[in-house]
Amino acid sequence: MIDIQAVTARETFSVRRPVLRKGRPMEDCHFSGDELGTTFHLGAFEKDKIIGVTTCLMNKDVRLEKLREFKLHHCYQLRGMAVLETMQGKGVGKKLLKRAEQLLKEKDIKVIWFNARIAAVPFYEKMGYEVVSDLFVIPNVGDHFKMIKIL
Ligand SMILES: CC(C)(COP(=O)(O)OP(=O)(O)OC[C@H]1O[C@@H](n2cnc3c(N)ncnc32)[C@H](O)[C@@H]1OP(=O)(O)O)[C@@H](O)C(=O)NCCC(=O)NCCS
Repeated sequence: MIDIQAVTARETFSVRRPVLRKGRPMEDCHFSGDELGTTFHLGAFEKDKIIGVTTCLMNKDVRLEKLREFKLHHCYQLRGMAVLETMQGKGVGKKLLKRAEQLLKEKDIKVIWFNARIAAVPFYEKMGYEVVSDLFVIPNVGDHFKMIKIL
């Protein structure tokens, strides 16, 4: 059984590192905004082991036309969505994202946006997200699209 719980930024590192920052030092697992009061982190647990994580932070990409009509306090960015390789494709990511959306709706958040790795775009599309940018490159990470969902 998969259980979703609130975790600290530090607790996400054991999943962020092997999945998103492979072979890189632990410091690279820290994201700016991790410790802000408006930021929260979720972990997916199987028994006592953390197998998936995501981070939600209040943020607005002011260059993104589709976000223009929304106030900052109605926008959340999703970051560091990751499931351990051996646990991918079993519904863990879906469960994490659904919980994040539910919590954000409860906070009266109107829109979720993020930079999606190209390989993850079909996953997010399945979850109702829309590509709203051209392809762009994040140095050391790879090709991305911006995606959004209005809640
Ligand atoms: C992307 C990721 C978070 C998805 O989590 P996951 O647990 O593997 O995905 P799920 O099993 O919950 O999949 C949910 C649905 O999306 C589909 N899906 C997942 N990944 C997919 C892909 N790459 N292509 C097509 N469909 C995909 C699943 O088939 C499933 O469909 P269903 O509901 O009809 O059965 C995970 O695979 C991962 O960590 N990937 C590597 C890191 C990464 O790219 N993170 C995103 C950074 S932006």
